[in-house]
Amino acid sequence: MGARTRYAAGNWKMHGGCSELSELGQISQAAAGLSVRSVICLPATLIDRARYSGVMVGGQDCHPESNGAFTGEISAAMLKDAGAEYVILGHSERRVLHDESDALVKEKMVAAWSEGLTAILCVGESRDQYLAGETQTILRTQIESSLAEGANSNNTLIAYEPVWAIGTGLTPSASEVQQVHFFLRNLLPDPDISILYGGSVKPGNAAQIFALPDVDGGLVGGASLAAAEFVPIMQVLEGVKT
Ligand code: PGA
Repeated sequence: MGARTRYAAGNWKMHGGCSELSELGQISQAAAGLSVRSVICLPATLIDRARYSGVMVGGQDCHPESNGAFTGEISAAMLKDAGAEYVILGHSERRVLHDESDALVKEKMVAAWSEGLTAILCVGESRDQYLAGETQTILRTQIESSLAEGANSNNTLIAYEPVWAIGTGLTPSASEVQQVHFFLRNLLPDPDISILYGGSVKPGNAAQIFALPDVDGGLVGGASLAAAEFVPIMQVLEGVKT
């Protein structure tokens, strides 16, 4: 596991304005003393303003084309231009609320790479699929159909986010998380691709999750909005595997 990079990644979703940028200053200060990488995926309006905050910044989605008549969309080239280094792709809120298919997510991934962005590819099963014991089948399909050819540890992270764990306070058991991450790792073309867990990660449960051998960090939604919650999560990640 030595070669894998550990990440504390935040996803602000559709939250935050200029007055919240001070949170990034505190995150940056804390990150400076740690070996884990901290990345915050911001609303597009904040990316440029955050570029000199000292925190690595990402977008939350991109269009497969680099420009064109696509009202309301944002391209990988634009994210890069604004200062992003990462982009979340295939988040379940995009897959469910915007009907994004695996094929579309794959096109977006290629677009992200062509601009030098690192893709954070999200996969995860719904509650019904979890209850039906279909988790591995669903994840295999998502990886096989949305991970573009050429994925490696420099251009891609995977985030396993059970849809039923996002924003609900529920999480799978530690052994379920480990089992899924081990399963995912064996599907990936490069064993050094980092696999993050996402879904209700909080300061109080981070240690148990991050200590698992195939978990390389977290993709954190709600608890990334305030430095007072996110910094302890970064510190837990730093502490569990040194
Ligand atoms: P949550 O969101 O931490 O608020 O559950 C995680 C995510 O959707 O990336």
